[in-house]
Amino acid sequence: MTSNQNSFHIQTFGCQMNERDSETLAGMLSEMGYVATTDKKAASVAIINTCSVRENADLRFFGTLGQLKKIKEVRPDFVVCICGCMMQQQHIIDTVKSKYPWVDLIFGTHNIHAFPGLLQNVRDERIKQVAILENGGEIVEGLPAKREHKHKAFVNIMYGCDNFCTYCIVPFTRGRERSRKPEEILKEVRNLVADGVKEITLLGQNVNSYHGIADPVPSQTTDDDTNREVDFADLIHLLDEVEGLERIRFMTSHPKDLSEKLIEAYSSCGKLHPYIHLPVQSGSDRILARMNRKYTAKYYLDLVNRLKATVPNLCITTDIIVGFPGETEEDFEETLNLCHQVQFDSAFTFIYSIRKGTPAENYGDQVPEEVKHARFNRLVEVINHYAAEKNHACVGRVVSVLVDGSSKTDETMLTGRTEEFKLVDFPDGGQKAGDIVNVEITQGKTFSLRGIESR
Ligand code: 5AD
Ligand code: SF4
Repeated sequence: MTSNQNSFHIQTFGCQMNERDSETLAGMLSEMGYVATTDKKAASVAIINTCSVRENADLRFFGTLGQLKKIKEVRPDFVVCICGCMMQQQHIIDTVKSKYPWVDLIFGTHNIHAFPGLLQNVRDERIKQVAILENGGEIVEGLPAKREHKHKAFVNIMYGCDNFCTYCIVPFTRGRERSRKPEEILKEVRNLVADGVKEITLLGQNVNSYHGIADPVPSQTTDDDTNREVDFADLIHLLDEVEGLERIRFMTSHPKDLSEKLIEAYSSCGKLHPYIHLPVQSGSDRILARMNRKYTAKYYLDLVNRLKATVPNLCITTDIIVGFPGETEEDFEETLNLCHQVQFDSAFTFIYSIRKGTPAENYGDQVPEEVKHARFNRLVEVINHYAAEKNHACVGRVVSVLVDGSSKTDETMLTGRTEEFKLVDFPDGGQKAGDIVNVEITQGKTFSLRGIESR
């Protein structure tokens, strides 16, 4: 087997935050003269960007790492790098060191900027490297990025999380909350738009607690930070002014921090469309308290009602965990009840997964696996019922669709997203990724819509 000296392959697990980090890694590698390849067997450098949010992500990572070992056995110069959330956990590092000693480079979520130097060391000196920082310091701006799409882009607005939901590993792997400066975000968005981007998705573990400090204005004498504080709604207003940008999305929102000002922004900012992803996690107050979510089911329902009252045709999606420790049949029924009341457009549903180092790991009353699975199936049935109902209700409407490209399952069809972020397939009439077209909806299915272009 021959290897292309300067090619790389990145495999990304997990959330949009990781996808965005992988774009940075790809940008750095491109600047170093490497080219991307989809064939990891032929790559000179392979990177696995890991996720640790649930156990199955861990298991998939170790499976993938096993595959790389086979390549390394044939081609010892093949460089294997692993990074991302799993690497911020000492027990994972220990496992990798003892069971996978052939891995060349391990780095974490806080030192992506150091990657080019670390890689160069590995290649020049032929030594293995482990470089993990415990916590994130200053945000490093100006890193290159090789973007996945030309017409839509993820934009980080903040890093880390301070919420410590008791099931969640993220505050331990991504560190404390840090917000980017509004000027840096605006600069990035303006550059993206100049390159053809129509839609941006603002990323943060809890965008509602974004707290940026704008640069001082030279003509103003005060250097008091409070005069220059930019909250999340302010940031949306600033971005709404960016000429050429069509759509602003964001994720994820913590219900406890969603402000009236943000609800108002849906009315006053034309680029903020009627869509919100608002994780509820549970419909039981007892479980919400044990999860440390800091709101009640009633608070969540009131919030949804206020949003629905302000934003016509609002599409709401959520995250729900079933089988959190101590969840009784009554608690679970309260979750179902909340779903009946909200009628989500869709939901990501998860079976609770124990995460080492989180408070809930030590809760004694873990729910048996078979109970968790049975509840999961009942929940999915309710979620799918409303998803199909909501999609059926779209039939006959003409919607504006941002084209993503050819459908993966049928090459005669194009696929794209409505302003409400619903997936639509429609016959390919020659439109390109990034075009915005009007589509009349002819069919509503559980997970997507079908339509025809409306001229
Ligand atoms: N088990 C199951 N689901 C989890 N999530 C986070 N941690 C866990 C866990 N330990 C889910 C939450 C979160 C989403 C990204 O992942 O619902 O909103
Ligand atoms: Fe995890 Fe909660 Fe932070 Fe979301 S808000 S990343 S669920 S700790």
